[in-house]
Amino acid sequence: MYHDPFERIEQLKREKNAVVLAHYYQEDDIQDIADFVGDSLQLAQAAQKTAADVIIFCGVHFMAETAKILNPEKIVVLPDLNAGCSLAESCEPREKFEAWMAKYPGHKLITYVNSPAWVKALSWLVCTSSNAEMVIEATDGPILFGPDKNLGRYLAQKTGRDLVLWDGVCMVHDIFEERKIIALKAENPGALVLAHPECTEGVLHLADYIGSTSGIIKFARESSAGTFIVATEPGVIHQMKKAHPEKTYIPAPPEEDCACNVCPHMRLITLEKVVASMESLQPQIEVDPVLAEKSLAPLNRMLALSK
Ligand code: 13P
Ligand code: SF4
Repeated sequence: MYHDPFERIEQLKREKNAVVLAHYYQEDDIQDIADFVGDSLQLAQAAQKTAADVIIFCGVHFMAETAKILNPEKIVVLPDLNAGCSLAESCEPREKFEAWMAKYPGHKLITYVNSPAWVKALSWLVCTSSNAEMVIEATDGPILFGPDKNLGRYLAQKTGRDLVLWDGVCMVHDIFEERKIIALKAENPGALVLAHPECTEGVLHLADYIGSTSGIIKFARESSAGTFIVATEPGVIHQMKKAHPEKTYIPAPPEEDCACNVCPHMRLITLEKVVASMESLQPQIEVDPVLAEKSLAPLNRMLALSK
């Protein structure tokens, strides 16, 4: 039995030659014990570069699966396999997704990384919120975009491209309440609204800055403003407070009075589960080798474009 989970994790990292990667939506302690904290793109890049034998992925399934596809020879552990993503789930059932694609012959599928490996395997290119605009601009001809329709609509507006959108949403970002953000702005004159592009059109209209989790954190760090209304999962506020504890960060409220701006999938990962998974090296992510090979090409294309 261990007494201090922080010490135990450090000991296990050495014993197993393991690296802990964490997304910005993880709870504060997990961000603090991680060797690397980042957005989806940075985590894929970190997974590609690591020399460790074992990757402990503190995030959700599609992120750990991406790390495994990039590192088939390494052990990739997700401390709770139930940590999914509403966007990845929206692609199911496969027959429906493939029937949608079949309606648009000659179109290239650009897939948001929040998707299962089988969708990536059907894609021309993968993107994340931090490189999506560049990926669209680098692609000629007609485009299908999925699974996030909010991000897709935002990208169509930004690039002037006519994207055919799959009808998926993020259960966290789709429910921020415009009316409550307007009220918060009125109560906090000078406050800037920072929003992730998975938010609805109405919320993005209220935003002073739109970007990925790392973009939002960077904007808050570099801005001269003192108050921010944060329209993304509030896990990002941990890094903001570390950089500027004197500033004020207000999590944007969802439609209902509930804690549903917290991603229920991301928050399935706990410090205790991290310790247990490091001790047993379970549960591991496995990807069918044929699927892994097919999805590697569009992932590598994205990584090459994003260097
Ligand atoms: P980022 O790529 O911006 O970190 O976003 C990941 C995500 O799941 C947003 O909900
Ligand atoms: Fe998926 Fe939304 Fe959670 Fe991000 S916040 S992992 S898009 S459910």
